[in-house]
Amino acid sequence: MRAALLALVVVVAAVGSAEASAHKRFARKHGVECIECHDSPEGGGPRNLIGQYYQATSELPVDRSPATMRIVESAVDRWLLDLLGKPPTIRFRHTALTDLAEAPAPARTQAAPHEVLRRLSFDLRGVQPTERELRDLEGGKSLDAFVDDFLASEDFAKTFTLYHKDIIRPRTGIFNTPVSFSRLGIVQVDGAQVFMSEAVRGERERGGCDRSNVVAVSPWWDRAQQLKVCRETAKTDATVSVGGKTLRCDTEEGQASGQCGCGKNLVHCYVDGIKDPIITSMKNEMANLAMQVVLEDRPYGELVTADWTMLDGKLEVFYGKLWGGQSDIADPDAKKPWRKVERPGRHAGVLSSPAMLNFFYNGRRWAQRTLESFMCHETTPDFDLLDDAIDAGHTIAVPYRDSPDLMPSQTVTEGRACAACHLQLDAVARVKDRWDYFGRYYDVMPGSRPLPIPQQAVFEGTVVDGVDGLGKALAGSEVFHDCVVTQAWEHMLGHRFLPHETPTRRALVAQFRADNLSFKRLLKAIAQTPEYQAKESLKLMRRELYQRSMARVTDVSWKIGDKTGWDIYYDKVGGMDYRKIEFRDVRPGIGHSLAQKKGAAESCSIFVDREAKRARKERLWLSAVDTLSDKTVSDKVLDEALARLFARATARPWSSVSDEEKNVVRALFRKVAAAHGGEDGWRAVCTAVLASTDFAVY
Ligand code: HEC
Ligand code: HEC
Repeated sequence: MRAALLALVVVVAAVGSAEASAHKRFARKHGVECIECHDSPEGGGPRNLIGQYYQATSELPVDRSPATMRIVESAVDRWLLDLLGKPPTIRFRHTALTDLAEAPAPARTQAAPHEVLRRLSFDLRGVQPTERELRDLEGGKSLDAFVDDFLASEDFAKTFTLYHKDIIRPRTGIFNTPVSFSRLGIVQVDGAQVFMSEAVRGERERGGCDRSNVVAVSPWWDRAQQLKVCRETAKTDATVSVGGKTLRCDTEEGQASGQCGCGKNLVHCYVDGIKDPIITSMKNEMANLAMQVVLEDRPYGELVTADWTMLDGKLEVFYGKLWGGQSDIADPDAKKPWRKVERPGRHAGVLSSPAMLNFFYNGRRWAQRTLESFMCHETTPDFDLLDDAIDAGHTIAVPYRDSPDLMPSQTVTEGRACAACHLQLDAVARVKDRWDYFGRYYDVMPGSRPLPIPQQAVFEGTVVDGVDGLGKALAGSEVFHDCVVTQAWEHMLGHRFLPHETPTRRALVAQFRADNLSFKRLLKAIAQTPEYQAKESLKLMRRELYQRSMARVTDVSWKIGDKTGWDIYYDKVGGMDYRKIEFRDVRPGIGHSLAQKKGAAESCSIFVDREAKRARKERLWLSAVDTLSDKTVSDKVLDEALARLFARATARPWSSVSDEEKNVVRALFRKVAAAHGGEDGWRAVCTAVLASTDFAVY
């Protein structure tokens, strides 16, 4: 029998693993139930050893004796390691810098210094220049000096946190895991609400505790609070002994024993409603890591190589649960501020952050995001790439698996229709095979057979090992350097590089490298290019810019009820569909300018109300005007007010405003003031300027 089976294995090895398709057919063909091959009686999902053997050999084992099953197991293992042991090649269409198309540069006009200043101010810190900065510019301060100031400002950090959130924008996630181990329920003790861990056996069986056993604990999610908690729930033992075995209380097993309490500050327990803040922190972790790199002016490649990350008090507890070691947290406190934390060397900056692994929760999503965010490559069907690979005699099928404990399958790269995209994705996914979607890492397959998990792929002709290996290779690659420069360019110019910008692109990438990948210096270098400083390179504001710049001009935050007007009106334009929202941002339509006009009118209205109530020398804008309701201000006072409005709102010196334009706003004030009074006159000119195209483009 054993010989027969070995013979069978050999034959199949020669044929290779046959295509496993129509699974119900397997069952019918062999006259067996789904459970013969699947863990679940309903079929689908993980395969058991027999199913794995079937996948490897297209045969069912002849018998199920222990001896045969040992051979079955080793045949499966060999097949698995053989299949996954060959590093797949990461393929995507990419044009090297030297091969990029070129085109003659169009005619450009150098923009006026105040126009460049306004542009820089928006791009680098998300708000317009102040009146004072405008005066400094006129007094001879250089644009370079402004750039240095802007890069050092707090608004720079805010603006580029948002920039990085956008680059690594999380979409969905699967948080089918609670924030900590055991849920706290509420029991009534003498009419008072008392918390009890649903995992503590003694108290659970008694249905709670009596008054003499209620203690006060300050919980990790709100240390200022004193929660009434049953005594056994409040226990802080790090370990318990169950049936002669020592169990850690910061593990599923320890908590399931019913002997463990909630630990220090109830760190092993949670109440409902604290998951959303954790998810928010998870989303911020990646951008905070990026900003730490930028603010410390570290080589930007650390974004994809760092062995450290940024954690706050919430993530410390949550990751303590995922990674183990919750008991070692010295002072569990959700409100602890963000700080830098070292991680093991297998990490790779954002690439191995739990957020990246969870929000893009399988290898393919993770791969898509990695390609998009760090290689500037969108995965679309690419039949040329497919044919080129096939013509070169390469196999395009990449065995893929969803998680470290699942068997690989290659069905998705077998057919052309799917392979046209998936040959780009599935090889990238290979390097993260040791990570599950919670960010836990496994050297070997979890479960009963501790096989090593292959995690190599070929990137740019070199074998890279794991996420860490890919991150390091990326950080040193032209692909990544060019991508970073392209993203920054897009932020500052409003479009990706065009063929006539190729020489600038090459120069910027070379400079970025010479500057040891300093992101701040990259921004500065872009700011100095003739393209950036051209009058023609205008962009249109987006939601955040409108919101922040109008608020700075008027010192009014546009509210409707308890929400900001921008959230209510601007978001209506795109609905909830992120694709549409992205599209709306890129090509704003009618709704876009409606939101600008409404925001301008409502902000200006409140602005003037408040100006009217302020003492004259405390006014932000109308300090030249005696009484705001006065409809007959002198020409001199009117011009002084309008000059300040132009400076505040559009960073334009009055001397740069044409007579024609001046006459339009003067007439507007006169007309509205005559009909409705001075305050409405001021509201009208404020609205006209904030709602203008000049305000929206920069
Ligand atoms: C003889 C073994 C065998 C039997 C019996 C079997 N399957 Fe499968 N099944 C497999 C293998 C092997 C795969 C993986 C094929 C691949 O991905 O290449 C699979 C994959 C699947 C998949 C694909 C999705 C996934 O989770 O990977 C579904 C769905 C499925 N089986 C359903 C069923 C159902 C329903 C039955 C019972 C009617 C059944 N199978 C019986 C071997 C079997
Ligand atoms: C246009 C490119 C494209 C084509 C064509 C394509 N895919 Fe995908 N596929 C993707 C991307 C991108 C992802 C990862 C993002 C996601 O899951 O949303 C993905 C993910 C997947 C996943 C994992 C999804 C999950 O959440 O579990 C499976 C399975 C899959 N594709 C199967 C297929 C199959 C089968 C075909 C052919 C019928 C196919 N794909 C064709 C781009 C493509």
